[in-house]
Amino acid sequence: MLTVSNLHKKYQMGKVPVRALNGVSLEVRQGEFVAIMGASGSGKSTLLHLCGGLDQPTGGSIVIEGNDLAKMGDRQRTLFRRERLGFVFQGYNLLPTLSALENVVLPAMVGGTGGKNMEMRARELLDIVDLNHRVTHRPQAMSGGEQQRVAIARALMNNPALILADEPTGNLDTHHAETIWRLLARFSRKEGRTVLAVTHEPTGATFADRVIFLRDGQIAGDCDPDGEGHASLVATRYAELVG
Ligand SMILES: Nc1ncnc2c1ncn2[C@@H]1O[C@H](COP(=O)(O)OP(=O)(O)OP(=O)(O)O)[C@@H](O)[C@H]1O
Ligand SMILES: [Mg+2]
Repeated sequence: MLTVSNLHKKYQMGKVPVRALNGVSLEVRQGEFVAIMGASGSGKSTLLHLCGGLDQPTGGSIVIEGNDLAKMGDRQRTLFRRERLGFVFQGYNLLPTLSALENVVLPAMVGGTGGKNMEMRARELLDIVDLNHRVTHRPQAMSGGEQQRVAIARALMNNPALILADEPTGNLDTHHAETIWRLLARFSRKEGRTVLAVTHEPTGATFADRVIFLRDGQIAGDCDPDGEGHASLVATRYAELVG
């Protein structure tokens, strides 16, 4: 459902080129849950941004559900993002004037399918991320971890075909982090949604079907985490491939 081919991203910092991605190729099946790991600066966020059509590559291509992102017009890409993709990014981008519930419902409103059902779904999602006691709170009246959980609920609101999550549990305690990993795993296994999630936590990565390791903008290797509880397997492979 996602095909990344020989992807390059070069940033120009004055005279110095920064090669954030240096020929990444990746094939992800529909319903697959892929975790991406790698040292800080290895290109993980860049890869996710490009896959979400939020930035343009300097080389290579990204095809999602048969659509080549580079060949879409701006408007078409915006609609595609809204209807097919769900984002959980660093810095939650919640709207400060809206309550938790309103922030979660928002993607459905923008898509033109608001209404009672949508509110029910939003409440359900907030319940799953353990925030049913915070529905009327605005972002400033919530902790960092709570805001992050609202952002996760919002990303799932439109039932996206592809979820792109950048360290979705970065601010969460172990218990809530596990809730989120289970939620993402359920989305992929039960509902056939595809998940691409960056994480630094071997324990989180064990919920994925496959872990991909990035090093200096290239794929250094991968591993099959072989089910929950095999965090040491992921950590060992990380040490081998990333250092
Ligand atoms: N807008 C930019 N201009 C110049 N260089 C950039 C820009 N964005 C990212 N980079 C560089 O590209 C490289 C990859 O960055 P990226 O954000 O993808 O790393 P990352 O793997 O997500 O790291 P982290 O784990 O710290 O989030 C880094 O060396 C970074 O400094
Ligand atoms: Mg990053």
